[in-house]
Amino acid sequence: MTTAKRLEAFEKFIQAVRAAWAELPDTESRMKRTAQLLEGLVKDPTLREYSKSWPSTEGHKNLLFYEDPDYHFVINGVVRTPGRKGGIHDHAHAWTAYGVLDGVERLERYRRLDAGQKEGYAEIELESVSDGIPGKVDLVPPYAIHSEKGGAERSVAVIVRSERLVGRTLQGRYDPEKRQFTQGQGPTQVPFEISSP
Ligand SMILES: [Fe+2]
Repeated sequence: MTTAKRLEAFEKFIQAVRAAWAELPDTESRMKRTAQLLEGLVKDPTLREYSKSWPSTEGHKNLLFYEDPDYHFVINGVVRTPGRKGGIHDHAHAWTAYGVLDGVERLERYRRLDAGQKEGYAEIELESVSDGIPGKVDLVPPYAIHSEKGGAERSVAVIVRSERLVGRTLQGRYDPEKRQFTQGQGPTQVPFEISSP
């Protein structure tokens, strides 16, 4: 990935996040700052316009925009086709900032009702729902159970993860009807450059 070609708004965002990670001592404070910075990025009209051409990530994929060589945070994209319903899951010990760039999504949070001591079993219930409109960022703490549901139109989100889990750590998945808990790999990473048009 060469720095020169990157879309300016995106390059500035990466540098600001790196500065935050250099300055702040722990993952929680770094990701809180990152979420504020991401809010600025997903309000950027140049990036929104540019994202209209991004390919769909149907089939459990993420666009991989950037992985930091020093701090190891990862920037991903998700492009949902109309009506796409995301499954209910957690991100294990990682922090995630989820920013809606285009379209409208429904951001759901769930609470766990059982003590998590029965193998493969989980009881959960919906705790809150917020409208994921362009410019909205949801900061998801470790092990928080959540889901993003696509709207009637195509939608696009930019995600910053405190680290890459894929290939290293399994994430929890929840089926509220069957009261099932399983673990699986996160989405397949598809390298994609956010370069100047
Ligand atoms: Fe998630």
